[in-house]
Amino acid sequence: MLFKNTVRFGLAALMAVSGSAQEEAIAPEDSAVVKLTSDTFHDFIKEHPLVLAEFFAPWCGHCKTLAPEYVKAADELESKDIPLVQIDCTVNQELCQAQGIPGYPSLKVFKNGNADAAGEYQGGRDAKAIVSYMLKQSEPAVQVIEDEKAFKEILAKNLDSTLVVDGSVPDFNETFYEVADLLRDENTFIQHGKDGKLAIYLPGESEPIVYDGEDFDAETISKWVAVQAFPYFGDVNGDTYQSYMSSKIPLAYFFYTSPEEREEYESHFVDLAKKYRGKVNFAGLDASKFGRHAENLNQKQQFPLFAIHDTIKDLKYGLPQLAEEEFASLEEPLALAAKDITEFVENFLEGKVDPIVKSEDIPEVQEEHVFKLVGKNHEAIVRDSEKDVLVEYYAPWCGHCKRLAPIYESMAEFVHGSEELKDKVLIAKIDATANDVPSVEIQGFPVLYLWPAGEKSEPIQFEGPRTAEAFLAFIKKSGTNGADGVAIYEEYLVELEKKRQEEEEQKAKQAEEDAAIAEEEDAQLAQDEL
Ligand SMILES: *[C@@H]1O[C@H](CO)[C@@H](O)[C@H](O)[C@H]1NC(C)=O
Repeated sequence: MLFKNTVRFGLAALMAVSGSAQEEAIAPEDSAVVKLTSDTFHDFIKEHPLVLAEFFAPWCGHCKTLAPEYVKAADELESKDIPLVQIDCTVNQELCQAQGIPGYPSLKVFKNGNADAAGEYQGGRDAKAIVSYMLKQSEPAVQVIEDEKAFKEILAKNLDSTLVVDGSVPDFNETFYEVADLLRDENTFIQHGKDGKLAIYLPGESEPIVYDGEDFDAETISKWVAVQAFPYFGDVNGDTYQSYMSSKIPLAYFFYTSPEEREEYESHFVDLAKKYRGKVNFAGLDASKFGRHAENLNQKQQFPLFAIHDTIKDLKYGLPQLAEEEFASLEEPLALAAKDITEFVENFLEGKVDPIVKSEDIPEVQEEHVFKLVGKNHEAIVRDSEKDVLVEYYAPWCGHCKRLAPIYESMAEFVHGSEELKDKVLIAKIDATANDVPSVEIQGFPVLYLWPAGEKSEPIQFEGPRTAEAFLAFIKKSGTNGADGVAIYEEYLVELEKKRQEEEEQKAKQAEEDAAIAEEEDAQLAQDEL
């Protein structure tokens, strides 16, 4: 279902280069950066064949870091007629929503005056990278190579780019250009020859993969290129991670500890990759650099390691690992059996392997009114057929979560104590940093979802002020049971207030009595002393 961002950023975070934040995210007035608004955006895009747009928020740290580089690149590209623009999403919310901006900054490339089909900017975030990326975008997407010798030379030297070659497929020229325009970042598109075929040459391979489908529409061909363009056994690193993640194909990792070890297993993985092309991608990962990524896959750092990440369902699978002590006392380096890997991949594809779910232990007793969920029981409980379940996904370090805690707890006390509500609604929470919750998308903390009663229900995200009243109204409106806590909550508060006052009066009375007794005792004492 939805993809969980915390995981997607896992590897990226390990490799992130932190820059020093400067003062302002917005470009200075005298720079070449053009500031657009909801009113001016569409006309501007229509009038310019190639535009790089930054969607930002003034408070965002990464936007501040990007700003001086963005300004420099804009100055340089001005003379090439490639404008760089900025849209402040805090004042142009509708536009940013329509553009589906997931976070800040978001960089998009608009082409041919089309405001509805932007491509993600996929280059680096310094001025030089931005300039070279945008210049490449302005070049023709397809190289036409007539000469046989020139083509052979390109093939021979081709060690890092996938070549997509159109050998004059009939009635295909326009589509080929369209696909090339979409996928040019990762591949090189060439027109050469007259054999009427469409072929892909992987880096270092002289044998082409020839398209044998019947449909030559842009969507089908784009998908085919995207699947075939991965090397049989490539490497996951900062440059390639994102394309593996967005390929919508499960990724099988081989964590290796040395180039020799990688080589030892390589031919086996190439065989598997050829066999399962389009079903699983296989790639190595240098454990000496990115070993910690094992933890994102719910694995211990025991290398070599083989694990599969189903990036669509965000589920993780791995070969069984050793207990810590056992691994520590190994005398020989760990080795994986080719046969075990093959078997594991087959079982994975047949749905016969259980995912490894990160989870705290299921609590033996619930200590608060809010029901504490963990990874192991999350699915079973949120898919309760009787109750609407409201779940707060939180992180222990998150300030907004801490502020919400007392409000949420007192609401849970009310709901779970109410005859009217307790069988219809469950108020729950889960520490999303310590437990896998693959079925929801978490872009920030806290996030709340209501799981309406019923096994097949889809979660609905809560958006609004985080108050008990708003939560109760949301449960009533979006839940299956229509449990109406709103009206009785008011009565409950009045009762609560009454009780509190009574208690206070009680206390005051008690204090008075105590004081009177103390006075009497003092008087008695004084008399005794006389
Ligand atoms: C293919 O399409 C491109 C872009 O529209 C055009 O420039 C080129 O001349 C066309 N080539 C052929 C052989 O029709």
